[in-house]
Amino acid sequence: MPFQFESVLVTGSSRGIGFEMVRQLANLSCPPKYIFASCRSPDGEAAKELRDFASEHSNVIIIQLDALSNDSIQKSAVLVKEKLDNDGLDLIVNNAGILTRSPNFLDVTEEDMMRVYKTNVVGPFQVIQAYHSLLAKAGQKKDFAAILNISGTLGSCEKSNFGGLYPYAISKAGMNRMTKGLSCELIRDNIMIMCICPGWVRTALGGLDKARLSPQESVENIVKIIESMDKDKNGIYCNNTGQIIPW
Ligand SMILES: NC(=O)c1ccc[n+]([C@@H]2O[C@H](COP(=O)([O-])OP(=O)(O)OC[C@H]3O[C@@H](n4cnc5c(N)ncnc54)[C@H](OP(=O)(O)O)[C@@H]3O)[C@@H](O)[C@H]2O)c1
Repeated sequence: MPFQFESVLVTGSSRGIGFEMVRQLANLSCPPKYIFASCRSPDGEAAKELRDFASEHSNVIIIQLDALSNDSIQKSAVLVKEKLDNDGLDLIVNNAGILTRSPNFLDVTEEDMMRVYKTNVVGPFQVIQAYHSLLAKAGQKKDFAAILNISGTLGSCEKSNFGGLYPYAISKAGMNRMTKGLSCELIRDNIMIMCICPGWVRTALGGLDKARLSPQESVENIVKIIESMDKDKNGIYCNNTGQIIPW
């Protein structure tokens, strides 16, 4: 039986994988009742495509959420709670993320390290804290609630036999460790959590020329993974076809 989710929060949905996720979820044959599409600047230029899409899909609700601001994360959870009325939130896709590039490790600045760590690790962690009670409420009423953290293979210690992209790779290793740790705790509230690498995808972050997958191809696979989510998969780290990635 596929995972039935009536409500989902997708962070970083102004563009790239996040926007494509919102688009494909809204176009499912049985779409969720609420798709909370969060972005940093709902009125900004970057969110225009999302605004246009939401104007044609009444279940897509745009909310402001900046992963660098716990205040905005908390406010978004209040808004989502109001919209959900007395229901819980079934699923979070922690997708928002950034990558910085430096010619070599000597050029990596403390500012880069901290900004990437805050966006890719602290923000997703605070999202889970802020939405925990809503997820737990869904977990009480249904088989389970779920969190999908969008990580990357660069966060695997075992798979990384090359240097470079230090702030980003270290942040994804942090996200992986966070996922594994939370999987031991949240399951008591009937919330399962896992992390996934979406593959190398043609986005601003992945690069628009060499990456192998289009956002559409990657997200088609991720949606299949979401539909197959189950408590048996609590705490796993896999690629977009469901193959386990070594930590
Ligand atoms: N593309 C790949 O090859 C690849 C590979 C492995 C993992 N991933 C992961 O997939 C996820 C999505 O990446 P993508 O490829 O779709 O990148 P992208 O096209 O650059 O999109 C990144 C998204 O994150 C949002 N974002 C950035 N900083 C934020 C903040 N402080 N608060 C809230 N949102 C913020 C951006 O919003 P704005 O429009 O406001 O900037 C944008 O919507 C990331 O976690 C990334 O690490 C991607």
